Amino acid sequence: MFWSVWAVWTVLCHSVSAEKVISLVGNDWTVSNSNGSISVPGHLPSQAHLDLYAQDVIGDPYYNLNDFELRWVAYSNWTYTSAPISGLSDDASSTWLRFDGLDTFATIKFCGEYVASTNNQFRQWHYDVSDILSSCSESHRIITLDFGSAPKIANQIANEPGQETWPFGVELVYEFFNRWFIRKEQSDFGWDWGPAFAPAGPWQPAYVVQLDEDDIHIRNTDIDIYRRGQTNGIPPDQSQPWVVNASLDYFGDLPEGARLHYVLKDAEEKTICSGQLESVNTTGSTVTGMVSVDDSEVDLWWPSQLGPQTLYWMTVDVYSPAGKYLTCVTKRVGFRTIVLNQTPISDEQRALGIAPGNNWHFEVNGHEFYAKGSNFIPPDAFWPRVTPHRINQLFESVIDGNQNMLRVWASGAYSPDFMFDIADEKGILLWSEFEFGDALYPVNPAFLNNVREEAEYQVRRCNHHPSLALWAGGNELESLELILLNDSAPEQLPKYKAQYEKLFIDTLAPVVFRNSKSISYTPSSTSNGYTNLNVSSPHPITQRFYDVKPGHYYSDTDFYNYDPAVLGNNSAYPVGRFSNEFGYHSMPSLQSWRSQVSEDQLSFNSSVVFLRDHHNPPGGLNTSNYRNASAGQAQMTEAVQLWYPVPDKKDPIANFSAWCHATQIFQADLYKSEIEFYRRGSGWPERQLGSLYWQLEDIWVAPTWAGIEYSGRWKILHYIAQDIYSRVIIAPYYNSSTSQLTASITSDLWTPVSGTAEFSWYDWAGHPLDTATPASVPFTVGAINSTEVLDVNLSSTLSDFEPNDAVLRMTLTASGTLPNSDVKQTFTHENWFAASPLKNAQLRDPGLELSFSNSTQSFNVTATRGVAAWVWLDYPAGAVVTFDSNGFWLAKGESRVVGFKVKSDDTGGAWIDGVTVESIWNQTLS
Ligand SMILES: *[C@@H]1O[C@H](CO)[C@@H](O)[C@H](O)[C@H]1NC(C)=O
Ligand SMILES: *[C@@H]1O[C@H](CO)[C@@H](O)[C@H](O)[C@H]1NC(C)=O
Ligand SMILES: *[C@@H]1O[C@H](CO)[C@@H](O)[C@H](O)[C@H]1NC(C)=O
Ligand SMILES: *[C@@H]1O[C@H](CO)[C@@H](O)[C@H](O)[C@H]1NC(C)=O
Ligand SMILES: *[C@@H]1O[C@H](CO)[C@@H](O)[C@H](O)[C@H]1NC(C)=O
Ligand SMILES: *[C@@H]1O[C@H](CO)[C@@H](O)[C@H](O)[C@H]1NC(C)=O
Ligand SMILES: *[C@@H]1O[C@H](CO)[C@@H](O)[C@H](O)[C@H]1NC(C)=O
Repeated sequence: MFWSVWAVWTVLCHSVSAEKVISLVGNDWTVSNSNGSISVPGHLPSQAHLDLYAQDVIGDPYYNLNDFELRWVAYSNWTYTSAPISGLSDDASSTWLRFDGLDTFATIKFCGEYVASTNNQFRQWHYDVSDILSSCSESHRIITLDFGSAPKIANQIANEPGQETWPFGVELVYEFFNRWFIRKEQSDFGWDWGPAFAPAGPWQPAYVVQLDEDDIHIRNTDIDIYRRGQTNGIPPDQSQPWVVNASLDYFGDLPEGARLHYVLKDAEEKTICSGQLESVNTTGSTVTGMVSVDDSEVDLWWPSQLGPQTLYWMTVDVYSPAGKYLTCVTKRVGFRTIVLNQTPISDEQRALGIAPGNNWHFEVNGHEFYAKGSNFIPPDAFWPRVTPHRINQLFESVIDGNQNMLRVWASGAYSPDFMFDIADEKGILLWSEFEFGDALYPVNPAFLNNVREEAEYQVRRCNHHPSLALWAGGNELESLELILLNDSAPEQLPKYKAQYEKLFIDTLAPVVFRNSKSISYTPSSTSNGYTNLNVSSPHPITQRFYDVKPGHYYSDTDFYNYDPAVLGNNSAYPVGRFSNEFGYHSMPSLQSWRSQVSEDQLSFNSSVVFLRDHHNPPGGLNTSNYRNASAGQAQMTEAVQLWYPVPDKKDPIANFSAWCHATQIFQADLYKSEIEFYRRGSGWPERQLGSLYWQLEDIWVAPTWAGIEYSGRWKILHYIAQDIYSRVIIAPYYNSSTSQLTASITSDLWTPVSGTAEFSWYDWAGHPLDTATPASVPFTVGAINSTEVLDVNLSSTLSDFEPNDAVLRMTLTASGTLPNSDVKQTFTHENWFAASPLKNAQLRDPGLELSFSNSTQSFNVTATRGVAAWVWLDYPAGAVVTFDSNGFWLAKGESRVVGFKVKSDDTGGAWIDGVTVESIWNQTLS
């Protein structure tokens, strides 16, 4: 479990060092505003909104329209004042303040004296305050942190003389302006899925450190594990031994000639190897050494579904040249290589039918694999209340959803270590991004220097985690920002493209390459890749930009089209090597709405519901026009109207709930269709090797692209993605203009699988239809490949039948082995195809029946009278439960037993009595 990390850390790093570390974490703080009208107990780490809410100065920031009502909090300064710090020694050689994160513009004082000012939420700060302490009495040993208003300061910076400007329409504004001038979580200023609180406060732990002479404090650690000779972005030689390079950032005085001793232990704390690190180098702030480890000594770490998540403990002890022990650090590590392969398609690949161009896929330990997952956004507008417990629960849903990769999106915050720890344990690869998105950024020397320091700290902090899969410069830069720029002011493209390269290639890439040989870097999520990579050059990457040849594929893709007619239109979906974002928004459940919205607001177009839809308002979502935010609600409504029976219930709350549910069905249907398309592409010329949909989870309760609601409750999407991310799937592909229907089997296993596909047509009452479709088709599908098992034309196949009353069930049963396993397993999957949109289908009551077995703790759903589409088990508020499956279809007479996991339960088990079942047919009832 994740909390074991901290326990073992203290066990393994056992030696007592001379340094004295006083934690400032706790309740010994006061928060006050500038005029003193508010002064309440506070916490560290925290943010002002959280402390004010805890003291009832403000209401729940997430309730109703408080996101707008609480603007004054963002526009105020907030001062955090510590109690006098006790236990400081008066004869230490030096005394330091260390802050692991200040959000964002803080003036730091100690004993009433100015220490420093900060301007970057993502940097670690440390200051020598020995001189201040020497003339400071015990009762005056107080730290004050005065936080300025980030929205105000962003505006001030924007108005500085000579400040950079951008052509109209390039800088995407949501609520507060000018986020691109400051190094603060960009979504704090609003986003299309979230609120704008722009919180301020000491959001990470802080310490006072006292050192003796010739003593150091380790403030950050970079452990890099790679194959000898490996360079970033190039598949390494897997026969080479491992190199473990450990580099410690410290403050204090490290005498010349320090020695580093290491111990590598397995998860059970059995020593694997130990000794001196070699080629030790010391600078005034870093000490680095390395050692080789043979393959025979360690087992590999694999992502989920591909093998075990083997982890080790690496401890480094620091000794003075005279052999005096100084300090030590322990990090949990894994042995794996992970590469984003963007090399040109080889002749061997061409011979397999892969189209020319470049690769764009991940390889773990030298193996290609299919990346299945979604995009992670900040799980809360206030990070200090994101606990390991919450992330553990969320990541359990990621694993249960058959996902092995998350793209940690670029305009939130860098993942905390506990999040990486949980990902390391569960085998979730984290494609990580620097925090830049949907804007172009200044490139003056001060800004670039600030960014360089931020990147240096974060790259080094995160590098030892085996789940770290990639660094990307930012979100939608080449695929959106440079295109918007070209639309708005084409003559200025060269200037701004050069600025883009200066920040994302010449500044960020060298930081990654200098601090890691194991992690690949790409300047923009979604791009056409590079034409040249030279990690030791000052301009290490030459991007291809838009210089592409027809019939060649180079890149990852993203896709958003809010015309709901796009559902199932395979010619509309992008063809590329990897799909890193795509989606459509839907409403959260009634149960979730009720947790943040008053009863009078529970209707589709109420002002609160309406104002929480931040999608696509005309002219962008900023404070002056957010009240026009209507586009999103209209799109969801149109999508339901185009495809499904429209809810029209007499009871207004039941009607609201049915509409929320209907928008989730469209969302799930669309993502399913796209994932089926992208996965089939693994066997097509584009050799498509990844699908990460937008977005995993919610930051609050609102209409968004999420598959998991703020409480942890799954929308239909997460269940449907779980199903369609199964290892071996069967899926229909229909061309409505030619009436041609095909079905393919796609496998992401690493060895071929063989089995049988079966097809049966029914009418909605569940009677079999006797068509010429083959009932049973044997197949073999190769490793990470797809094969077609059906190709019929519906105008002839259904010539004797009514398409509005015809549904096709397809199933597969196959036998094969999992990666890194010899054990034969059976794989099954089923899918359904309705020959007309459900809106027009002759739906009949499927006679759903539900029972609960206390002895097996499972539900049993049966369709007694007909075919049931989109069968949905619902459960009341007060609990968070995930069913083993949901959103499925049933043939007439078919039952499904559904188990569940309880994530939280405030109902004392009573939620079980409130479980209901419905299908799409229930929507037709008034
Ligand atoms: C003090 O500041 C708060 C904002 O932090 C403001 O709402 C209040 O009106 C101010 N009070 C006075 C007396 O100026
Ligand atoms: C708020 O903080 C900013 C910058 O940190 C400072 O310039 C300003 O004077 C402060 N305002 C008040 C009322 O203290
Ligand atoms: C120390 O510096 C030397 C010379 O630059 C270099 O060859 C060696 O690899 C460095 N050691 C480490 C552990 O990086
Ligand atoms: C996928 O399978 C087909 C049919 O067996 C084969 O021709 C093709 O080369 C395979 N693709 C890859 C990338 O192995
Ligand atoms: C939906 O309809 C079925 C009959 O098919 C019925 O048993 C069930 O109670 C209905 N569900 C809800 C939530 O009304
Ligand atoms: C359900 O089963 C549990 C044990 O699994 C038992 O304690 C409980 O009494 C049972 N409840 C009923 C209503 O039978
Ligand atoms: C589920 O319910 C159906 C209909 O009552 C019944 O026929 C079937 O045996 C049940 N399945 C299980 C596993 O209890």
